Formats: sequence, structure tokens, C-alpha cells
Amino acid sequence: MKMEICCMKYELQKTDSQTKARAGKITTDHGEILTPIFMPVGTAATVKAVHQRELVDEIKAQIILGNTYHLYLRPGLDILERAGGLHKFNGWSGPILTDSGGYQVFSLKDIRKISEEGVKFQSHIDGSRHLFTPESVMDIQRVIGADIIMAFDECAPYPCDYNYAKKSMEMTHRWLKRCIDRFDSTEGKYGYSQTLFPIVQGSVYKDLRIQSAEFIAEQNREGNAIGGLAVGEPAEKMYETIDYVNDILPKEKPRYLMGVGTPENILEGIALGIDMFDCVMPTRNARNGMLFTTQGIINIKNEKWKDDFSPIDEALGGYASTFYSKAYLRHLVKCDEILAAQIASIHNLTFYLWLVGKAREHILAGDFATWKNAMVKQTMYRL
Ligand code: GUN
Repeated sequence: MKMEICCMKYELQKTDSQTKARAGKITTDHGEILTPIFMPVGTAATVKAVHQRELVDEIKAQIILGNTYHLYLRPGLDILERAGGLHKFNGWSGPILTDSGGYQVFSLKDIRKISEEGVKFQSHIDGSRHLFTPESVMDIQRVIGADIIMAFDECAPYPCDYNYAKKSMEMTHRWLKRCIDRFDSTEGKYGYSQTLFPIVQGSVYKDLRIQSAEFIAEQNREGNAIGGLAVGEPAEKMYETIDYVNDILPKEKPRYLMGVGTPENILEGIALGIDMFDCVMPTRNARNGMLFTTQGIINIKNEKWKDDFSPIDEALGGYASTFYSKAYLRHLVKCDEILAAQIASIHNLTFYLWLVGKAREHILAGDFATWKNAMVKQTMYRL
């Protein structure tokens, strides 16, 4: 049997009186996370175009994400284990969360086959054949060594008919039991504790979502996640789903909304009681010239910025956002310079971490609702 010395803790510090927003603190063996929090995505052991030093000093990230699917294929488990786990391999000494690969293998569509056993898939890199099972995905995440690991689930596509959604959710629940059995009978490899978060599924069907949330809550793990959202359904449907799922998920544990989203989605998610978010949007969009700023959204490729020598975002603070001008960044983007991706990625992530940090400040100060309503309008405004 597993003998864990210490485990993850969550302290609920304040609940907003007008919304369901919460401020809290998660403690892991790699440090504390003040919630609500945004987790930059570092799929292949790197947050794309960002140094570890910038993640800490500039962006002020508190936890980053890794992906089981990508890390298993490259660099592979042998290298990760010999490095002493992902923290040692990439030099990030704060908390790490790994997604289980469920979401990534399902997006392979034509080159994967789902069965009760697990998912057979072909690598997108060299076409080699692999099998992920709930058990193997637990073992892989033990080797990667993330502080928070995710259950193996099926993220149902959207739209998806009721019968598919029901069967898929039931299989995700059976897989969860197998994940828990495996996780609870194994130990971390590197001397610190790991924790397993289960994932609520059920597509856009209220009765399924309620059933799933109840099943997930019953497992009594240290935190819970909501998956299968932001897959194409209208935003209102997503908010409605989060609302009734969160009424069932325990208040004294962190709630993680997977793969979400725009600044607006994040603010609305916080108002509905979500504590943790991740999304490729700030980094992916940065590489396409889309900047999120305190004043609104900028398409830096636009002609109008060519002679705007003002800083990218004076109000945000931080080196990348205040040292470089919009005109200079536009020039770098136009020339396809590597530095463009770096500046834009650091800027967008600084903005996302600023946004959740401000939300926390306003929850603690008691004026979150007013601030949030103004901020939703401001951050989605197209400059
Ligand atoms: N990332 C975004 N959505 C999901 C989901 O439903 N499941 C998993 N495992 N990861 C996700």
C-alpha cells in the first residue's frame, strides 16, 4: 500500500457574497498556489518561447502544465526518469500538473481506436502504434512526476448525441475507478507526493453532468476537474453547465476547468466558483500576433500599429509589455523574427496571470462582481 507522507492541501480563504467566486490557497510539495489561478501550458516540457526565469520573474506563474501524450512520445519515459522527473528535466521547481492524454489522443481522430481497455493510437510524429490504458496513464504520470495528475477520460466531441455522451461518461467513470486503483497502489518516484484529480464529463446534457458530478464528488479526491467544455458549445451552455456542476462538487476542494479559455470565459468561470484554468490561447494566439491587453485585444499585424511607438501595455507593467513598442513588435512579427513569439508570449501570459491575480484581490476586497463586469467588457474590446 502507498504511504504518502504529505498530500496536497486546499484552504478556502474567502467566498464572494454576490457571486460564487472564491479565493483560496493550494499547498503542494513544490510550493503554494494562490487561487484563482491560470496555468501556462507547457505541452512538450516547455511553455513555448518562454524561459523558466521569465515564467517565474516576469509572468509570475505559480504552476505550469505538461502533457502525458507528448512527453511519453518525446523525450520518452526513460529520459524523464533518468533526469529525475519533469521538474529536474526542465528546471521548473514549482508545482506541475499533467493532463492525462485523454484529450490529446481523442483529437487524433483517424489514427486512434477507443475500447473499454483504453485507446490504441498512432504517434503523430512517426506513426508508431501505442496503447494508453487508465493504468498505464497513471504509471506514466508517476514517471513524469507532476504534483497533480489527471484521470484518463474521454472528452466527448461537440455536438454529440445523448446515447454517445452517456456511454462515454459511463466508460470515463469505469476508467476512473481503474485509475484510482492503480494510483492508490503505487507511489511517487521522487520523494514528494502526487495527487489525482478526477474529471466530470457528460457533454451538454444536464442529467448526465449531474450524475457525473455526483460520481466524481463521491470519489473524495483532493481536487476535481470539469472536462468536455469549450469544445464548440455556446458560451452560455458552458456557463450553465459549470454552475450546476459546481453546486455538486465539494466547496472545500479546488475545482479545475480544463482548457478554458478567453479572458471573458475565465472571469465568468471564476464568478461561478472555478479555481484553476489552463489554455493554449495566450501562447498560441501570441504566435499569431493576437495580444490580450488591459485595454482590449490587439491584432499587432494591423497596419494601424506600424507607427505606434507606445509600449505594448503600459498599465500591465512587466518588462516585455513596457520595454517594447507596438510598432517594434509589429515589425518583428512582419519579419517572422523569433523574438516576436517570445515578446508576445511573455506579454500574453503576464496579462493572464495579472487578470487572475486581480480577480483574487477583488474577491478578497469584496468588490469582485463590479470589477468583473467592467473587466469583461474592457478585455474583450477590439482595439
Ligand atoms: N483539456 C480540455 N478538456 C479536457 C477534457 O475534457 N479532458 C482532458 N483530459 N483534458 C482536457
